[in-house]
Amino acid sequence: MTQKNERIPDQRFVTPDAAGMSKAARELASGQLVAFPTETVYGLGADATNEQAVASIFEAKGRPKFNPLIVHVPDIVAARRYVDFNDNAERLADAFWPGALTMVLPRRTDSNLSLLVSAGLDSVAVRVPSHPIAKALLKEAGCPVAAPSANSSGHVSPTLAEHVQHSWPDSNSTGPGVIVDGGPCQIGLESTVVEVDSDGCTLLRPGGITSDDLEKIVGQLAIADGSSDAPRSPGMLARHYAPATPVILNASCPETAGAFLGFGPNMPDATLNLSVSGSLREAAANLFAMLRQLDIGKFQSIAISPIPEDGLGRAINDRLRRAATTDEETRPRHE
Ligand code: TXA
Ligand code: MG
Repeated sequence: MTQKNERIPDQRFVTPDAAGMSKAARELASGQLVAFPTETVYGLGADATNEQAVASIFEAKGRPKFNPLIVHVPDIVAARRYVDFNDNAERLADAFWPGALTMVLPRRTDSNLSLLVSAGLDSVAVRVPSHPIAKALLKEAGCPVAAPSANSSGHVSPTLAEHVQHSWPDSNSTGPGVIVDGGPCQIGLESTVVEVDSDGCTLLRPGGITSDDLEKIVGQLAIADGSSDAPRSPGMLARHYAPATPVILNASCPETAGAFLGFGPNMPDATLNLSVSGSLREAAANLFAMLRQLDIGKFQSIAISPIPEDGLGRAINDRLRRAATTDEETRPRHE
């Protein structure tokens, strides 16, 4: 019988030597998933600028919702390419980066990050990890790396390479193609997530860095309510996911003067198609960008094909139901 944590032979494991790191970096660059150690927990990484690669993170984890992801970068210079810093962010970065602090900051409008990384929000969570293997991988890959904890949805976060294998035992599965084995994670608890504003900071998830330590730098933290793994304020999310144009779900054709967002083959009426081949991964990758493309005030409605309620389809439908909300308070309007 297999003992807990006993190593089952698996060609996905690589040691963090030059050959292993270059294999992992190549895997990331080609849009594949790589599990790698950070000082907090193992992450399931993808190139954060590659929409399909980011979609495959959600697919691999079996997440029913598109929770926004943390973007890992090698240093503050890289972080500045993707988010707008304020004074508090400068102070916190100075005090705790590299390390177990994730800062949620406004997404730069010229950022080339995947839209799925932010899950429709106007913010991005960024972190500079201190683990030497994570640092080396970020440097060698040369791209920002989106990474949630490397466990399937509902499981506890992994602190050993073997834990990653437990979530994806089958190397032909949707999980990582490479698992960089860096032994146990020092902190073993996820990073602290803080939304950082110039006039105050809000703790979104307690983690590796204590509130006391943070408060020494930025003063008292506000505490977000809700569960630690939920994005802040569902109301806020509903607003971000809802286009200003009314959305009609499970449609087979456009309304008069409306757009039609198709899914699957043989859709001659589709203004845009989430995936002609019917791939849920491709659809997830296209979802936010296509909703934005159609929500430009030119169409009176956006009718959307039914999406199968399995795999990534559950997360897509979760977002589509929010997009179709008729709650007038949270619906944005065209100016
Ligand atoms: O230690 C960690 O943070 C690990 C390692 C791999 O870095 N990552 C991790 O990621 O725990 P994940 O996806 O399991 O948790 C990310 C948390 C979630 O609670 C998510 O809602 C929040 O960060 N988050 C990410 N982006 C956000 C955003 N733009 N606004 C608000 N919350 C955000
Ligand atoms: Mg997690």
